[in-house]
Amino acid sequence: MALRPILTYPDSLLKKRAAPVSQIGSDVAQLIEDMTETMYAAPGVGLAATQVGVGQRVIVLDVHDDEESPGKRLLKLINPEIVERDGTIVWEEGCLSVPDLTAPVTRARRVLVRAWTPDEREIEIEGEELLAVALQHEIDHLEGKLFLDRLSRLKRDLYRARQRKLERQGRKGAAGGRPVLI
Ligand code: NI
Repeated sequence: MALRPILTYPDSLLKKRAAPVSQIGSDVAQLIEDMTETMYAAPGVGLAATQVGVGQRVIVLDVHDDEESPGKRLLKLINPEIVERDGTIVWEEGCLSVPDLTAPVTRARRVLVRAWTPDEREIEIEGEELLAVALQHEIDHLEGKLFLDRLSRLKRDLYRARQRKLERQGRKGAAGGRPVLI
């Protein structure tokens, strides 16, 4: 296993739509192992292949309670697809690819996702609340979409201006607190 660098905004690869996986071979298995290790190291609760610069429809997630040991709820999903969505929820989201920003995003409160596992089983995952949010956030990544794209234009412009200013000054934004990074 190996850690892979996580791309950050405004890397243009983050805007590319990922292609479906046509064969679950050893390269995909390796990608998934690396993504899992990278997600836990970050730490984050989800990671899409797009975020490590690979244009394939693969996501990993582990939405677990503080008391639970990591790994218990680990999901490794290939070609995930939302087949049902219900209700509305607003969640304060952060993203490993969008440093120093959290913002409330409105999404479906419950989703049903169909996907393939690394051992080639077709499964359905039902997610509510944070799991639903994380599944939608990661599948957005595969579409080349960041949660920034779901914010108002004003908020997005403010963030871009702040990042540009920090870049000009040659420093990174101060990371405050520890939000859930998806
Ligand atoms: Ni993200």
